[in-house]
Amino acid sequence: MRTHVGIIGAGPAGLMLAHLLHRKGIEAVVIECRSRQEIEKTIRAGVLEQMTVDLLNETGAGERMMKMGMFHKGIEIRFNGKRHRIDMHRLTGGKNITVYPQHEVLKDLIAARVKAGGEMFFNVSDVRLSDLDSSEPKIHYQNENGEREELICDYIAGCDGFHGPSRQSIPQKIRKEYQKTYPYGWLGILAQAPPSAPELVYAHHEDGFALLSTRTPDIQRLYLQVNPSDSMNDWPDERIWEKLRLRLSADDGWKLIEGPIIQKNIVSMRSFICDPMQYGRLFLAGDAAHIVPPTGAKGLNLAMADVQLLAKALHDYYAAGETERLGRYTAACLRRVWKAERFSWYMTSMLHRHHDSTPFDYQIQLAELDHVTTSKAAAQSLAENYVGLPLELEEPSLSII
Ligand code: FAD
Ligand code: DHB
Repeated sequence: MRTHVGIIGAGPAGLMLAHLLHRKGIEAVVIECRSRQEIEKTIRAGVLEQMTVDLLNETGAGERMMKMGMFHKGIEIRFNGKRHRIDMHRLTGGKNITVYPQHEVLKDLIAARVKAGGEMFFNVSDVRLSDLDSSEPKIHYQNENGEREELICDYIAGCDGFHGPSRQSIPQKIRKEYQKTYPYGWLGILAQAPPSAPELVYAHHEDGFALLSTRTPDIQRLYLQVNPSDSMNDWPDERIWEKLRLRLSADDGWKLIEGPIIQKNIVSMRSFICDPMQYGRLFLAGDAAHIVPPTGAKGLNLAMADVQLLAKALHDYYAAGETERLGRYTAACLRRVWKAERFSWYMTSMLHRHHDSTPFDYQIQLAELDHVTTSKAAAQSLAENYVGLPLELEEPSLSII
């Protein structure tokens, strides 16, 4: 089989890339190791930046999001039993925060791909890449019937997440990897209950971090900082609610509304960047190239930013034979990625309880929280990062503040 762009992975990066390329008349084939059903029910991200919302709308995939999404103008930060609101809308000149689950975005993008008649193969296995530094890079895999396939491409997009084979196909001596592992995990639950708060609540507490988010008027999403080596056996439902009540408590009588827990899992937290994000005719996008801890709600949004840059660069090539933008893909992505890494690290460090930190460190954390909730300049900096930095398609020749 032959195609213009072979895309490995049907996550946010791979599916949005396929969607953007189709709209530009560039042919692509998507291969994915999981089933469509599994992808459409895996619970992950919730917060979309304004840029992601605009992208889904501008490309005709935003209809369900506009009906089912929740649009917030701010977030709440809680510490020392006090509640503080950051008015993102006002601080960023009118930008919003949208809560719309990742698996719903994926359902919308899969539906768009099916409607476009684009090729997409699920349940593949044993994926390998070859000839990346030639003009005919190839993807070798086993299809869902167990037959070997070879996909000959002009370009390959490695959108296969952190554990996929694409990044590993870049020779080790070329790859520089930066990483930081955090001594925390997040236990995430879905609970059948009405919302306890109108907007997201990020809570710092001596006992650890907690986050209150929402999904629908009847389903809420909550997270607790836990030990990364904890298993679900360490967290019976009653212990989860006890910790959520404690960490989210406020001294003004605010009450957490509880309900049956219908799903729970634990994820570890790390920061990771691979530089370069390209090798020969292979281009990495999303979690395949970089990971952020989830506190800044940036991972899916970064994946969407990468593939916009990649789609534009591929369009330059197919429309005009121009490869300049492809050549500077890594630099264009990493400039934005490092800023999101910094913000995600900052939110994580400010909000989590470091159990081996000194009393001095703890007071510094409280001072940071006090500053960011009382200084307009500090709150504005948090807000502009949280709603998302602008996607810069061109390098500024002169930056003026
Ligand atoms: P993935 O979603 O990992 O997709 C990669 C795909 O490739 C998968 O479908 C996988 O099955 C497939 N694949 C892997 N290996 C192979 C192979 N060998 N062959 C074929 N296919 C393969 N981000 C936000 O922006 N906002 C948030 O609010 C947010 N909250 C989060 C909360 C939690 C608890 C977690 C865990 C993450 C959160 N994120 C958030 C991050 C976000 O979920 C990820 O950054 C996002 O999924 C990255 O998309 P991706 O397409 O790059 O990778
Ligand atoms: C959600 C996830 C996040 O990582 C975050 O920072 C805020 C909300 C969510 O799943 O709703």
